[in-house]
Amino acid sequence: MTRQQHFGWFLARGFGPHGWGHPYLDWNYRWTSPGLYQQSVRDLEQAGLDLLIIEDAPSLGSASTIDLRVRQAFGGPKHDPLLLAPYLFAATQHLGIVPTVNPAAYLPYTAARQFATLQHLSGHRLGLNVVTDTGSARHFGSAPVLAHDAAYDRAEEWLGGIRDLWRSWDDGALIADPTPTADRPQGRYADGTKLRALRHRGEYFEFDGPLNALPFTEGEPVIVSPGGSGRGLGFAGANSDVQLALAPLDAASIRNYRARIHAAALERGRNPADVTVLFAIQPVLVGSAEEADRLVAASANPDDATVLTIAERQSSDLETDLTSLDFDAPLDLGVFGDHVSRGSIARLVGSHDVETTPLRVLLASMARLGRLSDGSGFVGTASELADLIEDLGENADNDGVLFWGDLHPVTVHRMLDELVPILRRRGILRTEYNPGGLRANLRDF
Ligand SMILES: Cc1cc2nc3c(=O)[nH]c(=O)nc-3n(C[C@H](O)[C@H](O)[C@H](O)COP(=O)(O)O)c2cc1C
Repeated sequence: MTRQQHFGWFLARGFGPHGWGHPYLDWNYRWTSPGLYQQSVRDLEQAGLDLLIIEDAPSLGSASTIDLRVRQAFGGPKHDPLLLAPYLFAATQHLGIVPTVNPAAYLPYTAARQFATLQHLSGHRLGLNVVTDTGSARHFGSAPVLAHDAAYDRAEEWLGGIRDLWRSWDDGALIADPTPTADRPQGRYADGTKLRALRHRGEYFEFDGPLNALPFTEGEPVIVSPGGSGRGLGFAGANSDVQLALAPLDAASIRNYRARIHAAALERGRNPADVTVLFAIQPVLVGSAEEADRLVAASANPDDATVLTIAERQSSDLETDLTSLDFDAPLDLGVFGDHVSRGSIARLVGSHDVETTPLRVLLASMARLGRLSDGSGFVGTASELADLIEDLGENADNDGVLFWGDLHPVTVHRMLDELVPILRRRGILRTEYNPGGLRANLRDF
């Protein structure tokens, strides 16, 4: 029997101007209105995906990179995905919706109450992608500017506090029994003596409980995390139900990543099987192997305009203006501030020697595509992608993958039209949902 896997979609550029720079802009969807996303999530649910994760960054970055972020909409504007979530829940019945949240942006009590409300409204389908972007603290008044690891410490205190609030209603506190009794003719709604008035006095937060929201019947919102550093994996091991992972998609790399996160879970006293690891991939699916070969060959020598577009996109992601650097000189890593993700810098450098390789070569490498069939990249047919997914499930115990891209009917259909039937025929993709919500679906297999 083939191993079933979990599938998700990662809306990689957040709740922003969808289709900008792509021909499908002319489908005339309005990115600011819910219809575009509602149409897409209905299809994700029909396809049997478990969850949609919506990337976010609350900030447009530093003064020197604001224009790089907005001029091609690479890094903004972005509307708040937490407020999009109710529209997506209303359009679906089973799909988990996972907005990205930053602990700097919400006080724990506000967060616990809002997330609890959404968990109830959605039938237990809320997830939270907890990120530790340190650059946006200046927008949030009292939030301190923290170094990388300290931001994770604060995120752990934040989440621990939220969980304490969610758990501040002891068993039996909610009675909801309208049966009249001699001393209570209107029955009894709740027993206030079973609500814990917790008092949190931590390093970063101070608040009191109990929470003014009902406890959950099908479990707490699912916690998702994307950090890949040692501290990031430690956070995931301690707290996460789902880890968004980036790694080369070969069995050895996947096994290695999974072993690291499982070790982190064990270290924090958790069952490693409770962390679902989903690897993010951005396949380019085409109709035939010949077409895939043609596309890969055509990408081998990117022109100057393509290199410049990549530099602009990287400048936005890395919060550092690469376009003003000499493309024919090696990249000085000193241009990156401490807040820039080390993983993103490593992706730009790749396997090159950064001391001697001109920046132009690093950028051009990012334009080059490879073939699914030989493991050099992600261009191929739906059945080649299904082969890879099946192989990683069988030979690396992989839990599943996240498709990375815009959330637009065009991109959803391009990815899933042929792939879904193949995965279903092979028994890898679910054909029905567990009615218990996102947590129940993640635990199904
Ligand atoms: C697949 C993936 C998705 C991510 N999504 C977000 C996001 O939505 N918002 C954000 O601020 N950072 C996001 N990040 C960045 C991480 O939150 C984190 O800042 C980054 O990975 C650096 O942390 P690390 O040093 O522990 O890897 C993402 C990273 C990965 C790998």
